Amino acid sequence: MRAAVLGASGYTGGELLRLLAGHPELEVSYATSREYAGRPIHYAHPHLRGYYRGLRFERLNPDRALEADVVFSALPHGVGLHTTASLYESGVTVVDLSADYRLRDPGLYRVWYGFEHPYPDLLSRAVYGLPELHREELRGARLVAAPGCNATAAILAVAPLVGAGLLEEPVRIVVDVKAGSSEAGSKPSRGNHHPAREGAVRPYSAGGHRHAAEVEQELSRLARGGVRVSLVPHAVPSVRGVLASAHSWLAPGASPEEVARAYADAYRGEGFVRLVNPATGRYPDPRFVVGSNYADVGWAVEPGQGRVTGFAAIDNLVRGAAGQALQAANIALGLPEQAGLEAPPIFP
Ligand SMILES: NC(=O)c1ccc[n+]([C@@H]2O[C@H](COP(=O)([O-])OP(=O)(O)OC[C@H]3O[C@@H](n4cnc5c(N)ncnc54)[C@H](OP(=O)(O)O)[C@@H]3O)[C@@H](O)[C@H]2O)c1
Repeated sequence: MRAAVLGASGYTGGELLRLLAGHPELEVSYATSREYAGRPIHYAHPHLRGYYRGLRFERLNPDRALEADVVFSALPHGVGLHTTASLYESGVTVVDLSADYRLRDPGLYRVWYGFEHPYPDLLSRAVYGLPELHREELRGARLVAAPGCNATAAILAVAPLVGAGLLEEPVRIVVDVKAGSSEAGSKPSRGNHHPAREGAVRPYSAGGHRHAAEVEQELSRLARGGVRVSLVPHAVPSVRGVLASAHSWLAPGASPEEVARAYADAYRGEGFVRLVNPATGRYPDPRFVVGSNYADVGWAVEPGQGRVTGFAAIDNLVRGAAGQALQAANIALGLPEQAGLEAPPIFP
């Protein structure tokens, strides 16, 4: 099968190319970039030298993308909005890594992204590409909205507690996120350029981060009721990785044993979730998942206070973007779910 990668010179596009280079069934037939058009792949991605000898970056042309069986759109928010819609309407399977199709309620695009969504009917047809929550809907799906990286970590951290009804109602969750600099993409801005970012530890979007909307959407669906979520990311001095610590309060009578059981039950058989049991004295750490599609998930209960915290560590570019997009595409296309994703994490 042929795969196209739109925005292939960026960080998530590069990760898609890296993972697809080891995929047994998918071959990259088209990779786009304006800046590198006409250049070989290793001009933008020197680590991929020798992997894509016959391929050069090309300018974005929807007709070329149509020749593929699956299109991964790794373009900035809004840039690929119309392209994704027209590719989907033409019958191609599209996995969009931007936020453009993640929210089901069109009104939320006005609130969080400042624009009127032009394809509200497509929002109800898009499947939110988190396999642990939507595996059945993903089978055969033709429009997949790959989740945000902070949102992926936040949801995986706390979904078992929400799903098992172990949180005090009304359910309120505060998610503290630590995020590496590659989250901001490959184009440096004043605040994210190396001299400003190196060594930095600082909150951003602290008055309300966009990913809270998709976390609320997904957790409310699980809870079959309203869940309120506040999410505050912090820039930390690493390149890759997200750690989400999702704090809430236990429902009266809920025990630490029930919490442990909820995590074990929710993720039993999940190939890309590894539980880090707090009884071992360890908690998830992004350093142990870098380069892989794993989410390491753990929890902590403070019995005297009734406080419970779910933790999830992921690589933002793999489980938070390209890896999860590929996992979702594998499911959608009926391919083995782990195809292209089997390499273990790297350390140190
Ligand atoms: N970084 C993360 O951790 C992460 C995680 C989850 C989701 N995402 C989402 O994934 C998408 C890509 O993120 P990224 O971090 O990979 O960004 P990036 O490094 O800035 O890459 C963006 C890509 O899009 C191309 N592009 C930019 N503007 C374009 C335009 N107007 N027309 C055509 N092509 C254009 C760029 O190449 P040229 O400029 O050469 O054309 C580049 O290939 C975003 O929607 C982002 O929100 C990112």
